[in-house]
Amino acid sequence: MTVTIVGSQLGDEGKGGIVDLYGEEADVVVRYQGGDNAGHTVVHEGEEYKLSLVPSGAIRDKVGVLGNGCVVNPRTLFDEIDTLRDRGLEPDVRVARRAHVILPYHRILDGIEEEAKSESDQKVGTTGRGIGPTYEDKAGRRGIRVGDLLDPDVLRERLEYVVPQKRALAEDVYGVETGEEFDVDALYEEFQEIGERLAENDMTVNAGEFLDDRLAAGENVMFEGAQGTIIDIDHGNYPYVTSSNPTAGGAATGTGLSPAVAGQGEIIGIVKAYLTRVGKGPLPTELGGVEGDTPGYDAEAGNDTDELAKYIREEGGEYGTVTGRPRRVGWLDMPMLRHAARVNGFTGLAVNHLDVLAGLDEVKVGHAYTVDGETKLTMPATTEQWGDCDCEFRVFEGWPEVDWADVAADGYDALPENARAYLEYISDELGAPVYAIGVGPGRSETIVCEQPW
Ligand code: IMP
Repeated sequence: MTVTIVGSQLGDEGKGGIVDLYGEEADVVVRYQGGDNAGHTVVHEGEEYKLSLVPSGAIRDKVGVLGNGCVVNPRTLFDEIDTLRDRGLEPDVRVARRAHVILPYHRILDGIEEEAKSESDQKVGTTGRGIGPTYEDKAGRRGIRVGDLLDPDVLRERLEYVVPQKRALAEDVYGVETGEEFDVDALYEEFQEIGERLAENDMTVNAGEFLDDRLAAGENVMFEGAQGTIIDIDHGNYPYVTSSNPTAGGAATGTGLSPAVAGQGEIIGIVKAYLTRVGKGPLPTELGGVEGDTPGYDAEAGNDTDELAKYIREEGGEYGTVTGRPRRVGWLDMPMLRHAARVNGFTGLAVNHLDVLAGLDEVKVGHAYTVDGETKLTMPATTEQWGDCDCEFRVFEGWPEVDWADVAADGYDALPENARAYLEYISDELGAPVYAIGVGPGRSETIVCEQPW
């Protein structure tokens, strides 16, 4: 069977921990979209591992697959694999031949375009990993795929077509001087060697076929979504989105399996007990602000929720795994979550970071929006309208700081009563049971109510 893990908010919901927890029963863990813009931290036997590309299951002897919907930076891939090897692990990672390759010029172009937008509200605040430019080339039918790296003639031909275009774009449109990142010979040399390494290690697969065979053999396959629903290119708040589909539909298109395969399994929405966002865009439940990211926020002037935002940011360690940037912080946003529940069809929920909110007198939730005098229970389709939404808040009584390891060991009923009321509200509103509750960073600090397999 399959279990799909999807971020229900803006990314950084703590998916890695849940993939790790439920991945225990999986034989194969597959990423179906995104690239090294993701960041997951997994704690295994007291050791912390930070990964941005390799599926986190690979830390625990699972087969890790990067599906065709991913964009793969081979430098990152091999760096991560080599680092894991140096730490005594033997990760088994397979890469779809249909996945697209992030080339050095994609990263440069990502930076150039962000810079060009920096004076306007158009700046997305990307991770700078070349994700958007790579998906652009995929859609523009000028991309280079993992399979192309295995055939030097095809690789050369594709590079000779595309690289002069990229060079002209950088130099003639943006007026930026280019170096070996835009040089056909240099790129050919490096990427042909990468192709050799992939082939020698038998790392490439026809992802759909590979996964179908594993399922037919009775194995458990987990689909690991990166990022989150509200930064999905189709269902997120465009243009402040990533360029792929983190939503559950991506588990079909990004792996080569039918939608029925993911649809017949469990689809678990990962919810952070509050909200964070990296980069620009509206955030109706925002507390405090991050200068440069929060619209209209001036750090010197500050505002009256700054202290609370700082408290949550520190308690939750809310700094980007990939970039180290401080994340914007807000209360839980239910219209956002209702939208996510519809788009993804959650069969269960995992609510993370409940411990971070402990000790507050009260915990608020954006229950509904008001916009143009109307009450809305779900998100509007345009980002501009979303930015115009005001929140109607519900207030929950806070819960005390407790020994979370004990609570995790004792189970759901050991949670403080007010924390349970909060969880039950979320579950009722989204029409899905809570399968797991994260109350700390380690795997043992999770209350498991349901095993999805
Ligand atoms: P990109 O994916 O680097 O193109 O960035 C596009 C948007 O998605 C930016 O707002 C990023 O901050 C955001 N983003 C990308 N990956 C993640 C992630 O793993 N967590 C949270 N936000 C992300």
